Amino acid sequence: MPKFNSQIINGRFLADKIFHEIRQEIVKKKLTPSLAVILVGDSKASKVYVKLKQKACLKCGIEFYLYELPKDALEKQVLECLDFLNQDKEINGIIVQLPLPKHLDEDKIIKALDPRKDADGFHPENIKLLKNGRPYIIPGLCEGIIKLIRATREDISDKNVLIVSNSQIFAEPFNHLFVKGRRVKTCEWVSPQDKNFSEKTKEADVIIIAIGKPKFLKANMIKKEVIIIDVGCNFIKNIGSRLKRAVWGDVDFTSCGKKAKWISPVPGGVGPVTVAMLLANTVKLYKQQHKIISS
Ligand code: GUN
Repeated sequence: MPKFNSQIINGRFLADKIFHEIRQEIVKKKLTPSLAVILVGDSKASKVYVKLKQKACLKCGIEFYLYELPKDALEKQVLECLDFLNQDKEINGIIVQLPLPKHLDEDKIIKALDPRKDADGFHPENIKLLKNGRPYIIPGLCEGIIKLIRATREDISDKNVLIVSNSQIFAEPFNHLFVKGRRVKTCEWVSPQDKNFSEKTKEADVIIIAIGKPKFLKANMIKKEVIIIDVGCNFIKNIGSRLKRAVWGDVDFTSCGKKAKWISPVPGGVGPVTVAMLLANTVKLYKQQHKIISS
């Protein structure tokens, strides 16, 4: 039986390096950036993510403000909270933790954010500017993934990237950053429902997968020496007698690890780097608002 051959892309190591750089810049330039998080409801997973963001802000010297609303909060209440934060000059970055409870219109709420304070880079104006010009901010998730791929030091300029996701909206910013930025040869999108799914995954040199299905991508769906970035973060309950809860990615790490050249693990891959990029974006927004030129 072949052994685990892949090299692991260490997201925690990379995130720590980014945190260190952020902290140094904040101290050296005496910056006072701040991030506000709106958290609606009591999802355990969302609370864990928000806590990680809070801890990271504390570590780097970014003021952190948490606005918690009940799970039955009205859309009007969320919009009022956003409006208040949009107006507040002391707040540089804002995020609305997703997913929101089902009765709330996520698109409408994200659109109500001031795009100049959009620390996630999810606002449609920033996505539009990413395609056509200079956005205030690039989605931290996309930049984080690009940084993880770069950390492998592999030359991907002649490679074919495949984004595996349920919605094409997720893939759009990558297409711009990768292809228009001339970083790769092609960047395509495939849904897990596509009838030619496995053929497409077998041809890809780089796979970025975000579908929310634990251990979905198996060794028989990939080619040898592929680079895999696992965005999946699935909370699994009641596994085994020892482990009560665990987090699994969308990739079957054990089987793909025998074939892929590089894999980002879950946990410890995309997650920490995305948090680091959120903080980097907050500092970037602060500098834009204070007209400080980036060095
Ligand atoms: N929920 C899971 N990941 C994210 C993220 O990167 N940003 C926000 N706002 N919500 C999330």
